[in-house]
Amino acid sequence: MGEIVDVKHRTLKQKILQSPMAGCTDLAYRKIARRFGCQIAFTEMVKDRPVVERNRKTFEMLQTAEWDHPLGMQVVGREPALMAEAARILEELGADVIDVNLGCPVPKVVNQGCGAALLKEPAQVGRILEAMIPAVKVPVTIKMRTGFDEGDDGRFLEVVRVAGACGVGAITVHGRTQKQMYRGFSNHDAIRAVKEVATAPVIGNGDIRTGADAKRMIEDTGCDGVMLARGALGYPWLYREVEQYLATGSVPPPPTVPERAEVLREHFRVQRELYGDAMACRTIRRVLHWFVKGAAGSASLRERGNRVESPEQFEALVDEFAGSHYEESGLERPLRA
Ligand SMILES: Cc1cc2nc3c(=O)[nH]c(=O)nc-3n(C[C@H](O)[C@H](O)[C@H](O)COP(=O)(O)O)c2cc1C
Repeated sequence: MGEIVDVKHRTLKQKILQSPMAGCTDLAYRKIARRFGCQIAFTEMVKDRPVVERNRKTFEMLQTAEWDHPLGMQVVGREPALMAEAARILEELGADVIDVNLGCPVPKVVNQGCGAALLKEPAQVGRILEAMIPAVKVPVTIKMRTGFDEGDDGRFLEVVRVAGACGVGAITVHGRTQKQMYRGFSNHDAIRAVKEVATAPVIGNGDIRTGADAKRMIEDTGCDGVMLARGALGYPWLYREVEQYLATGSVPPPPTVPERAEVLREHFRVQRELYGDAMACRTIRRVLHWFVKGAAGSASLRERGNRVESPEQFEALVDEFAGSHYEESGLERPLRA
């Protein structure tokens, strides 16, 4: 096996990445995503201090396995020494890449000057990276938004310059500002502006739900890779679709409802193996929501899904889902009957 990331040049080689998503991208999720062609996976964000204090719950969020590579671990914080110590521990836990969260928009995080709030403080980002990069051997990357708000005077581009000067390994850009949260659309012009000043590879992110979306992201912005997030929740087929579309311009046939149901069952089997039945019955509820979205009767399936307490109950719901048809609507994907 070749190098899984370019450690010598401390950068990333992967073109199709799975995004970190809190409460979503656990080990079971990553196992399925990898089977469907995800080239590098990320754990959800964790705070620097609980990592350094080796908090049990935080370490559970970082649970990994021998097959779970290449793997990025993402950390959020603002104190350089603490971030450097957290990076050392994440490397020890098996991270092949350490990503710094400069995009989280939630008040609890930005009010502490972390996540997207750091986009207003390029010099602080520099101090954080200067402490972290020499602390580990693996690449240190950042994941950012296109500013705190529209009137930022391009300060986010200063973050990009500073990060480049520090030797950042890659820059993922979600084309929304903090103020936008998840409203509007990913701004390709702003991502292009990042690409124009960046010295490290730039990964485009935001609203990629089809292979054609990924191609448009690359053509509009000149980015070096794409990161898939909500579009792959309940639809791991997206990894293959993006790969095939970028290589050939063709799209593989979409999965049938029974095929979707089978992957949902597989997700549950993986969760049972990794976490045991009680925990699997709790964590499958959210996953079921993703998979049944757009199916006839999905509201009722979701509502009953929230009360799943045994594998038998879960299997009965999936049988029902497998026999349902699929309504074409909005962003939902047409499925073969
Ligand atoms: C439920 C949820 C949790 C997320 N958690 C994280 C996180 O922990 N770290 C992070 O950098 N981004 C997080 N994000 C943002 C995504 O990684 C991604 O940047 C964003 O959803 C835009 O991409 P999309 O339009 O393809 O979904 C989260 C998004 C969602 C919907």
